[in-house]
Amino acid sequence: MLDQLKQLETEALSAFAATQNMQDLEAARVAYLGRKGRMSDIMSQLPSLSNEEKRAAGQMANEVKAAIEGAFIAAQARIESANSAANSERAWIDMTLPGKQPSVGHVHLTTQAIEDIMTIFSKLGFNRQRHPEADWDYFAFESLNMPKDHPARDEWETFFIADPGKDAVQTGDMGKVVLTPHTSNAQVREMQKGKLPIRMINIGKCYRRQATARHLPMFHQFEGLMIDENVSITDLRGVFDFFVKRFFGENTKTRLRPFHFRFTEPSFELDISCTVCSGEGFVNGAKCKLCKGGWLELGGAGMVHPNVLKAGGIDPKKYNGFAFGWGVERTAMMRSGVNIDDIRIMYRNDLRFLKQF
Ligand code: FA5
Repeated sequence: MLDQLKQLETEALSAFAATQNMQDLEAARVAYLGRKGRMSDIMSQLPSLSNEEKRAAGQMANEVKAAIEGAFIAAQARIESANSAANSERAWIDMTLPGKQPSVGHVHLTTQAIEDIMTIFSKLGFNRQRHPEADWDYFAFESLNMPKDHPARDEWETFFIADPGKDAVQTGDMGKVVLTPHTSNAQVREMQKGKLPIRMINIGKCYRRQATARHLPMFHQFEGLMIDENVSITDLRGVFDFFVKRFFGENTKTRLRPFHFRFTEPSFELDISCTVCSGEGFVNGAKCKLCKGGWLELGGAGMVHPNVLKAGGIDPKKYNGFAFGWGVERTAMMRSGVNIDDIRIMYRNDLRFLKQF
């Protein structure tokens, strides 16, 4: 048995020294040191030896095993270092090659429009104020001269929240909580701050139970409110023109069309000349596909109703003002001059569409 062990040591050491890769090394380890390998094969003879022979064989077996294991570790280190040298050779970088351009994203079309809208209105002294996007019925409707069950509310196909939550602060009868169907809830909220004059822009999300090619269930509006002494429709017109010329271009024409809102008197719809046909209604002899007869509707506006001023704690005999509310998505699409069939594409996260803006 002692001879067998010596022979095993010589063979195993030269086998490990000859291995060139991890697979061969592992195969050699299993062959010599594994559970069914040569070492345990030899050791299985141990019980048949005399006690004295056992002692001598056991001692030599330990020495041989230690030598083989040492050879295994040395071979392993040798192969690993050869591999890492080969890897660094492969990973060599040519610093003179042209770099790869990382793709750079940009803000969404709606965010671009919001930033531009705010930049323009801030030049006229309007400040952006934040008002709730889930608010009491009172601010969304009742304080705006739309009593409970009034048919005018039907225009705003409103989502109601069943449980306002433990943080909702209610003073008096504010009704239910709604997902704001327009940003006009900001009007009385801003007035109730008690600071005059007011030049506010509130930009926020609005929700209506509508989902068509022209209607999103979630969209944005920007609400303007100006309250001071002796504000006139001419001031509204001036602000409207200032915004439109900067946002859509110097040559854009504007018009006010009589309309009806319960919270403004008189009320208007505001139109701009079409950004595709320049207000002509025709492009190369064919009817313009974007507009109806040369005009695009931007949104609603009017002189703030005295009842709304009273709800905001303002004396309508001393102060007056105007308000307007326009849709951000529609405004952004009008500027792009792109006639899209379906406004919902704005929130489908399709990069082929978004990258165009
Ligand atoms: C209002 O919401 C009034 N609060 C506007 C207003 C404010 C009038 C202040 C007077 C004084 P209207 O429902 O027309 O009005 O909505 C205004 C604009 O919001 C529309 O012209 C349109 O651009 C946009 N809009 C309305 N509903 C949707 C919708 N579902 N999807 C996308 N845009 C919408």
